[in-house]
Amino acid sequence: MRVLSGIQPSGSLHLGNYFGMMKKMIAYQEQAELFCFIANYHAMTSLSDGKALAQGTLEAAANFLALGMDPEKSVFWVQSDLPEVQELTWALSNFTPMGLLERCHSYKDKVAKGIAPNHGLFAYPVLMAADILMFQSEVVPVGKDQKQHVEVTRDIAIKFNNEYGEVFTLPAPEIDEEVAVVPGLDGQKMSKSYGNTIDLFLEEKALRKQIMRIVTDSTPVEEPKDPDKCNLFQIYRLFLDKAEQEALRRRYLDGGMGYGEVKQELFEIIRDFFTPFTEKRRELLADKDGIRRILAQGAEKARYVARKTMGKVRKKVGLIY
Ligand code: ADP
Ligand code: TRP
Repeated sequence: MRVLSGIQPSGSLHLGNYFGMMKKMIAYQEQAELFCFIANYHAMTSLSDGKALAQGTLEAAANFLALGMDPEKSVFWVQSDLPEVQELTWALSNFTPMGLLERCHSYKDKVAKGIAPNHGLFAYPVLMAADILMFQSEVVPVGKDQKQHVEVTRDIAIKFNNEYGEVFTLPAPEIDEEVAVVPGLDGQKMSKSYGNTIDLFLEEKALRKQIMRIVTDSTPVEEPKDPDKCNLFQIYRLFLDKAEQEALRRRYLDGGMGYGEVKQELFEIIRDFFTPFTEKRRELLADKDGIRRILAQGAEKARYVARKTMGKVRKKVGLIY
């Protein structure tokens, strides 16, 4: 089975990114043919500071490597190291009805938020389709917000295949319902753009501060509390197995438990869980050339597959004459 996903190198990482996508990708290395890349072309739709994008790309690579991405077991590269992806985007653009892109929630949300609707933002899903179809991906693990983009990819692939025969494998999004939407400090979806994140790789003090900001209700300590309505519980449970979740649930229902003590426990759990990764990340970032070498090797492996796909596509559409 071939599994592919990408992450934009735009800023810091949070628990939503980790549980919604990265953890699963890292686990897939053991079970599937894994393709994982840093979507720096996509990040250009929201970032025009070149230095920040370049630095963010190296950091995104270090993040994934520190969390356990193994370049020996997977194909791990930076999107823009394969210019083939732009050529495929163009070929696919001719099979992408305007209406399909106009219906994309992500585009509409961004425009509603006041972001200028330029062509890059509009064509974003076509570039994403090229990422996915280039590698004949079967499974695309993403958070709920990206589901529609994978469906658009399928629609484009079907149109292309109808015209030229079975060129592309049809991908399916894979969304783990348990972690489809990791809630943020305020109970809304955790997202950089909402300023409600618990970030990975923080210093202790900053991490503690974020956790203490998790919004809870004002039920007094002695009274029973409802875990299902509590976003502190919803975040905490991500770190617990079934039996541990049940035990925490009981403490909520029994009363006599304060949110402050639960926050302190959660802080310690998150700190202990991520500290080894934070140290690994620091080591990796101290040797940027080392990261560049890993990415260059990954790009070479990815390019081998991309060239094969593009050979087929170029022939089908008539670019080989
Ligand atoms: P953000 O919303 O913070 O900008 P991104 O859009 O960069 O996050 O998301 C990167 C990956 O992490 C995507 O696969 C996305 O679906 C997933 N993801 C982001 N936030 C969450 C969340 N709160 N819950 C589950 N998955 C998430
Ligand atoms: N758009 C995705 C995001 O913002 C990143 C991405 C780019 C991606 N290309 C992809 C994800 C292909 C999965 C497959 O999270």
